[in-house]
Amino acid sequence: MDRPAHDRPVRIGTVLVPNPVFAAPMAGVTDIPFRVLAREQGCGLVYTEMLSDKALIFGNRRTERMVTITPAEHPIAVQLLGSEPGPMAEAARLVTEAGADIVDINLGCPAPKVVRNGEGSALGRDPRAAAAVVGAVVRAVNRPVTAKIRKGWSDEEVNAVELARRLEDAGVAAIAVHGRVRTQFYSGRADWGVIGEVKAAVRVPVIGNGDAIDGPSAAAMIDQTGCDAVMIGRAALGNPWVFAQVLEFLRVGRPAPPPSPEERVAMAARHLRAIVEHKGPVIGLLEMRKHAAWYIHGLHGAARVRSRLMTADTPEEMEGILRSFLDDLSRPADA
Ligand SMILES: Cc1cc2nc3c(=O)[nH]c(=O)nc-3n(C[C@H](O)[C@H](O)[C@H](O)COP(=O)(O)O)c2cc1C
Repeated sequence: MDRPAHDRPVRIGTVLVPNPVFAAPMAGVTDIPFRVLAREQGCGLVYTEMLSDKALIFGNRRTERMVTITPAEHPIAVQLLGSEPGPMAEAARLVTEAGADIVDINLGCPAPKVVRNGEGSALGRDPRAAAAVVGAVVRAVNRPVTAKIRKGWSDEEVNAVELARRLEDAGVAAIAVHGRVRTQFYSGRADWGVIGEVKAAVRVPVIGNGDAIDGPSAAAMIDQTGCDAVMIGRAALGNPWVFAQVLEFLRVGRPAPPPSPEERVAMAARHLRAIVEHKGPVIGLLEMRKHAAWYIHGLHGAARVRSRLMTADTPEEMEGILRSFLDDLSRPADA
């Protein structure tokens, strides 16, 4: 049989995602500006950060803002966090009205306060309960419903294959598998073997996640697991180019050149302007601090300029710090 083309579209229920390079949901990160930049770089599917069902239902204003979707972002999956079928179905209806193309259910979040509520990875630990939630959401909306799971709860409690089978029976249209157990949080290497096991066990598309950081690693994940798409998380922090680079590698098998320091600073400045436009100068500036540090991470002198970025009082001041950092970078060392 022919080796499958690595950059083919992925059908998730009724949604045809144009390519198999997805941006992982990340709380505090994957807001409108981040998602628009990711799409600009060719990312096939973006996700919102996880949204609590209760916060959506009770009209928490921050959550309402988080579920705003702009035209450039489609197709977009809106991720929900919760543990009870009724409220999750209700929240799914709300985000569908807000424009979600796909409703994703979080079954992997390891945070203690989430787990204490029986949500995220705690719900994934109980396949029967997880399937009940997914089934209720599938019945509630006329959009594809997907789930994001972990390898399991702990090394002694690995359940991804059983969970995936139950979710498929409950009607999910795709399953993203993060190859770490809950007790690992985000440390240690992701186990790609379990992604392959899930792929072999279900018919719906499987999205591999964990440690895909560039073209070669993304292609290796697809080769080793047979997954239908790769989902990239931390490698995209301050690095929206990763999506274009992975796509290019999947298409032609060659690594694309990394962005120059000028491109990194210019992108950081654009990101800053976009985040200020969406969230205002006060919250925008605060939220931009971490992004700005990520954009310049690894450049000569970045550590020193980082503390200045953290204390900038206005967006203009932050942009000025970024620009003068670039000037310093391009000045000969002895000047
Ligand atoms: C800052 C941060 C926030 C995250 N928030 C979410 C989230 O809201 N929902 C979710 O399913 N996973 C979340 N994750 C997990 C990522 O989606 C992904 O599974 C994980 O980072 C592993 O992929 P990576 O190795 O490509 O980073 C988050 C990860 C990070 C680093």
